[in-house]
Amino acid sequence: MAEVVIVPDREAAGALVAAEIASLIRRRPDAVLGLATGSTPLPVYEALPAALAGVDVSQVRGFALDEYVGLDPAHPESYRSVIRREVIDPLGLDPERIRVPDGSMNGIEHHGDDYDAAIAEAGGVDLQILGIGTDGHIGFNEPGSSFASRTRVKTLTQQTREDNARFFDSIDDVPLHTITQGLGTILEARHLVLLAFGAGKAEAVAGAVEGPVTSSLPGSAIQLHPHVTVVIDEAAAARLGGADYYRYAFAHKPEWQGL
Ligand code: PGA
Repeated sequence: MAEVVIVPDREAAGALVAAEIASLIRRRPDAVLGLATGSTPLPVYEALPAALAGVDVSQVRGFALDEYVGLDPAHPESYRSVIRREVIDPLGLDPERIRVPDGSMNGIEHHGDDYDAAIAEAGGVDLQILGIGTDGHIGFNEPGSSFASRTRVKTLTQQTREDNARFFDSIDDVPLHTITQGLGTILEARHLVLLAFGAGKAEAVAGAVEGPVTSSLPGSAIQLHPHVTVVIDEAAAARLGGADYYRYAFAHKPEWQGL
């Protein structure tokens, strides 16, 4: 099962995951990171500069989870712009080594296959950061997404468009379509780290960790993966039946195991 780590707040989550990423890059200087966008991963990105002090990041590679389709890449909320602003620039990564799915309409039918091929060519993702949507999506794999799905175009649910409207002037500006790594693509990463904060995520987290494995709740795909770390605050943990055991297990975790 997923290892569930319940932390006091976002900052603690960010520090924990940033330390794990720093340890990975020390071991493997050309590590391949799977980069999520949205509000959830920000504490990790904010903690990384300190965690990576003195670590050579010049060889680090990365693949974003998803991108809006048809949004100008120069738009401040395109995930290309977000990854540049939140990750590449502050950490001093080589932009040539960080890819974001191509959401341009020109050749869109091939962009998913091209992206999966690039991930495979890089040797796969070492550590994939994930958020989870209030409807249980990971990446932009909305409910009903196949567990075997590859990077492809998806239509956003109205709930996700409403959730993401805060990043745009109005909900009408939120694109209808995205290109997202598939659940099958995500499950190939060697380590999945799913973060969630706040009461609004409690139901989705409980479904993903303890509910039945069902494409109706795409986050439940994590139960099929051998190495998953779920890092959440108390509010996001509120609906977990096994919370006491997760706390107990983490408190007694052998140090050699790492995250
Ligand atoms: P959020 O989104 O981090 O902005 O809450 C999570 C997600 O949609 O995966």
